[in-house]
Amino acid sequence: MNIGIIGGGAIGLLCASYLTQHHDVTVFTRRNEQAEEIRAVGIERTVKGETRQAAVHAQTGITGEFDLLIVTVKYHHLQDVLGELSTLPPHRILFLQNGMAHLLDLENWKTGHSLYIGVVEHGAMKMSDHAVNHTGIGVIKWGAFQHEEAVDIKKALNETSSHFQMIYTNEWKKVLEEKLLVNVCINPLTALLHVRNGELIANPSYEYMMKCAFEEAVSILGLPEKERLWSYVVSVCEKTAENQSSMLQDIVKGRQTERKAILGYLLKKAQAHGVAAPHLTFFDRSLEVLEKKQTKSFE
Ligand code: PAF
Repeated sequence: MNIGIIGGGAIGLLCASYLTQHHDVTVFTRRNEQAEEIRAVGIERTVKGETRQAAVHAQTGITGEFDLLIVTVKYHHLQDVLGELSTLPPHRILFLQNGMAHLLDLENWKTGHSLYIGVVEHGAMKMSDHAVNHTGIGVIKWGAFQHEEAVDIKKALNETSSHFQMIYTNEWKKVLEEKLLVNVCINPLTALLHVRNGELIANPSYEYMMKCAFEEAVSILGLPEKERLWSYVVSVCEKTAENQSSMLQDIVKGRQTERKAILGYLLKKAQAHGVAAPHLTFFDRSLEVLEKKQTKSFE
């Protein structure tokens, strides 16, 4: 297939480096220097200490015709990308954002494109404009958002490396909600407290705060199986105990966080359904202040 990948961040580079093994891949970046660098040296992917080079096309400005476009930019850049995509003839487009706020934007998007949603369960870190570290081998689960399922894409995306599987599921919303739950429990607190993920369960006061966030999020999302879900959140803290969450890293590096994609979505939903969410509101407002202050420290 002819695949266009929009975004040259960690997930964009990771997807491009694997998909180019079976497909013709073009990466669309915002900056021209990044596109030039990728064209010159390809994408360097390191997994389990082994580094591989992958050749892909790269350019700025989304033009051309593709069998599939994959949008990997963070939620706060999505509006710009939707504007550019609106100028294209009908395409099939897979969205891989964190959080769930993008679903509201896509619901309101008047478009002739066929839309798909995916959930990324990989760990990846961008090392430079052309290099990515595949820090956690997971899968991408994806499904049809509004339109009919695409049998040919499903088949083509099955042909991937064992380190990069793309699994079609009708249950994508449940997967997205459970990932949102993990993110809302771990990310805001680690960013506000400046602690690694494991601290949230090692310190009973932090665990209590995490439980408060959990209770609010579960009731906003109307999720059953609370016990299983709490064990799941705790198990992610255990498995990633030494990690700095993505939100903490964003705060430390003075970057915009995924606050709106994660907390923003839940708070909008809470308001619409008249559910109280005092802890999530506090986390959201505190993070907003912290983002503006651009704290750049982590001990
Ligand atoms: O966003 C992150 O950092 C990760 O999704 C997770 C699972 C919270 C672990 O750090």
